[in-house]
Amino acid sequence: MSRIAVATLDGGAGKTAVAFSIAKDLDYYLISNDDSIIEIAYPNGAKIMKNPKVIDDVVYDFGGFVDVGVINIIKECDLVIVPVINDLNSKMKAIKTISQLQEQNNSFLVVATRLENTKDLEEIEESIKKSFPKIPILPLRKTKIFKNALEFGMSPLELEADSKQVAYTQRNILKEYKKVLNFVKGF
Ligand SMILES: Nc1ncnc2c1ncn2[C@@H]1O[C@H](COP(=O)(O)OP(=O)(O)OP(=O)(O)O)[C@@H](O)[C@H]1O
Ligand SMILES: [Mg+2]
Repeated sequence: MSRIAVATLDGGAGKTAVAFSIAKDLDYYLISNDDSIIEIAYPNGAKIMKNPKVIDDVVYDFGGFVDVGVINIIKECDLVIVPVINDLNSKMKAIKTISQLQEQNNSFLVVATRLENTKDLEEIEESIKKSFPKIPILPLRKTKIFKNALEFGMSPLELEADSKQVAYTQRNILKEYKKVLNFVKGF
């Protein structure tokens, strides 16, 4: 039984991409307080709720989380995943997100998303480690697989199993994604 939250104040850093993929691959529910296509992509598992509830085996995709309802759910989660891209605004918002949620939770994973080169990861590491030296950071390079996952309603692992071409062309991101998935499975 576990509960995973994916949250950052930054828009477009990959909350929905990461939350949907992990939920589908772990066969977990997916709950979001934010409009997106998740109910179409994952009809048996995803639900958009303005006032999300605490349930088991769930991934929460949290956009704005200032309200008490969301804060109370963060308290009950086993892990909070904070996606961040290598831009100043995204890094600042990731740090702000972690600072705000530290009172509620002390188990964080930063995923550095949409990476285009090694410098992107290094710069994200440098800025996050300055404030939070102990929080692990895992990379996810820039890829079309998350867009395709949502649009086809299939997880990255399902897309990999479905097509030899995907398995080959996306092998590097799939390797990185499996590390994230395995990290999450440990909770
Ligand atoms: N490695 C990656 N990880 C996550 N997203 C990626 C990656 N590479 C490319 N993308 C793309 O980046 C975009 C991330 O947007 P997404 O909607 O997941 O962000 P979000 O945090 O949910 O934004 P919002 O706050 O607007 O809901 C998607 O189009 C996704 O396909
Ligand atoms: Mg989203």
